[in-house]
Amino acid sequence: MPEMDASTKTKEYFLDIPQANDTFFLKGSANYDWGMKNRLSRIFNPATGKTVMLAFDHGYFQGPTTGLERIDMTIKPLAPFADALMCTRGILRSIMNPEAGSAVVMRASGGPSILKDLSNERLALDVEDALRMNVSAVAVQVFIGGDYETQSVINMTNMVDRCNRYGIPVLGVTAVGQELTRDARYIGLATRILAELGAAFVKTYYVEDFPAVAAACPVPIVIAGGKKMTELDALTMARDAIDAGASGVDMGRNIFQSDAPAAMIQAVRKVVHENMGAMEAHELYLDLKHA
Ligand code: 5RP
Repeated sequence: MPEMDASTKTKEYFLDIPQANDTFFLKGSANYDWGMKNRLSRIFNPATGKTVMLAFDHGYFQGPTTGLERIDMTIKPLAPFADALMCTRGILRSIMNPEAGSAVVMRASGGPSILKDLSNERLALDVEDALRMNVSAVAVQVFIGGDYETQSVINMTNMVDRCNRYGIPVLGVTAVGQELTRDARYIGLATRILAELGAAFVKTYYVEDFPAVAAACPVPIVIAGGKKMTELDALTMARDAIDAGASGVDMGRNIFQSDAPAAMIQAVRKVVHENMGAMEAHELYLDLKHA
């Protein structure tokens, strides 16, 4: 028999205060279910609406990328500075610490190596395994304009259908082939297609006229770092991207190939979450590097 409520305390119904209808902080995400919102809130900081994701999934098509030869040595120490880790299940299980707090965005497409046509990807992860690893999102690469454009789009929509059953957001990753011009027209096309077809957030490259790209994309955009550039250039790109409407960065080589990766990711955090200017963040980077 359950016990009766025997408390003698007067009940308090706050009759003069209607229950609040909370809104959700993230662009385009107000109509999702609780689990999806909870997972997105682990990736994007609700206090700032932004995220610093650390991408180190490059090995899934290019093997031991420079800076990722020994992820236990180079990436593990950076994990506490990242809001989310973007990686493969092989690396997550073999190296990353399950007690660490960062969210996980799991690479879910793959197939071809750098020796083949990269756009010929398939889904490479089952949703059940994603749930087993308690991921906050899965990432599927989409090759708009690539030889296998439709196949890669269907990879993503299949993953969206499967993940929607469990409230797992899908990150649509725009891949730009060598032969495609990386400009606002192309990036605007690709990001919009991914959002229209169900991506909860989109990863793409920062380009000139980015405000128009961000405005036309109904879900949050995170910026890839791209090839290694100077730390000041990378911080400037992050600053410009945030100012132009990006909701964060998903940066790899410009962090782990930096001379001082821990200093760099901390400087990136200041830009993304604390509105710091690129020059000031670069000074912070140098101070931390030499400390
Ligand atoms: C490959 C990916 C990579 O994870 C990521 O974009 C690479 O990050 P970065 O360009 O910053 O090294 O999504 O397409």
